[in-house]
Amino acid sequence: MEDKLFSYGTVDNEIIKLLNDAIGANNVSRDDEKLETYSHDEVPSSTYDRPYKAEVLVFPESTEHVSSIIKIASTKHIPVTPRGAGTGLSGGALPAYGGIVMSFEKMNKILELDKDNLTITVEPGVVTAEISRLAAANNLLYAGDPCSGDASFIGGNIAENAGGNKVIKYGATSAQILALEVVLADGSVTWFGGKRRKDVTGLDFVHLLSGSEGILAVVTKAVLKLLPLPRYSVDILAAFKDVESAIAFVPRIITEASMVPASIEFLDRKAMKLAEDYLHTKVPAGEAGAALIIQLEDNEQEQIEKQYETIGKLSQEHGAYEVYIADTRSTKDRIWQARKSVPEAVSFFYSRYTKEDFVVPTNRVPDLLKLMRDTCGGHSLEWVAYGHVGDGNMHCTVFGPETDDWHDVLVQVQHEMYPKILELGGTLSGEHGIGFKRKSYMKYFLDKEQIELIKRVKLAFDPLNILNPGKLIDWE
Ligand code: MLT
Ligand code: ZN
Repeated sequence: MEDKLFSYGTVDNEIIKLLNDAIGANNVSRDDEKLETYSHDEVPSSTYDRPYKAEVLVFPESTEHVSSIIKIASTKHIPVTPRGAGTGLSGGALPAYGGIVMSFEKMNKILELDKDNLTITVEPGVVTAEISRLAAANNLLYAGDPCSGDASFIGGNIAENAGGNKVIKYGATSAQILALEVVLADGSVTWFGGKRRKDVTGLDFVHLLSGSEGILAVVTKAVLKLLPLPRYSVDILAAFKDVESAIAFVPRIITEASMVPASIEFLDRKAMKLAEDYLHTKVPAGEAGAALIIQLEDNEQEQIEKQYETIGKLSQEHGAYEVYIADTRSTKDRIWQARKSVPEAVSFFYSRYTKEDFVVPTNRVPDLLKLMRDTCGGHSLEWVAYGHVGDGNMHCTVFGPETDDWHDVLVQVQHEMYPKILELGGTLSGEHGIGFKRKSYMKYFLDKEQIELIKRVKLAFDPLNILNPGKLIDWE
């Protein structure tokens, strides 16, 4: 049964003709260079056992196009890998079994901004930051804020349930979705959800689909939630002499100041050094042992001033030796540019690394960092920690040694770490997804029953296994 699920047809001239007739030859490409470019995301290819390459690229312009492509794929048993902007961090857009890669770059329209219902309806190829910009121009907030927001597509954010910098206050992408138009694995089209803040009619497919990595259905439209735009926001950068005091301060922000900031981000010393080297500039608090970025929002100027004074004072009582308040566009940009440049700096300066996406209960973050220190120390490996500490979601990145077996060493380190992450009450990925990169490690975190259930859900949606096969679960 499993062999049959993975024995696919090849994309021959007959299939190309069917695709050309269905969506126009200008929306179909077999150009070799393009096939190569569209066959991976931001996970370094060296992470995988061999290169994986699409046989054909399609660029649908409408839901009807997507439906026609999937009907062809289903009749001919050809795998379809949906693709956003290629900013993914788990190999979700990798065509694991060749076949069709479906890029959403031509489905890039914002279809409606509905001020009465506080919703925005978009196609999957809209760049996330454009949604935020249009909302802000109308005094509204789209609260999804992944670090890759200037480049990533909303479709990819939905597929991965992208998190980012504002999850502590507003939730991840799934919390922003009210409805999805989807094409199912047989090419039929349906809507899940609607412009409604409540809905218990049937099962909650909207939230099952969000984060399902394109293995269940293909999203062709999304209705997203908007909120009033807070009038004032301030970013605080608190410099601590060491990681321990910075981390210890995080829960105090909520319990002692009784505030839920929009962001609480963490950078260790190495992360700040990476940002400085990459940006060729001094980062505020760049010499600190660790720093926190705390973003506060309010509608009243007086209130926001009170808030940052409270947090500033409290952070100093808890060991911050310097506190920067950024309340202008340029000072805020300076802080966030430093934070957001860390992952870019990692990929720029290193080719041998594994970027992890652990989440632990927030009070176990110190144990997580100790685990990293012990494990990496045991292998004499360098590492860096940055990320969404307010969510317990840390992007600990381990750098490979300068030896030929660097890949095996990193895999060994992962096998050592993962069971211990589970013991901390943690999990494998908070926002980057499982995709191709992490699927063989799912067994450490989910029991057999859950893995079997995922397989059954997958086959209920996609009995022929044509939608993004080879992701999320290991069928071997
Ligand atoms: C981030 O928080 O910077 C993003 O998740 C991206 C990354 O870690 O590469
Ligand atoms: Zn992140």
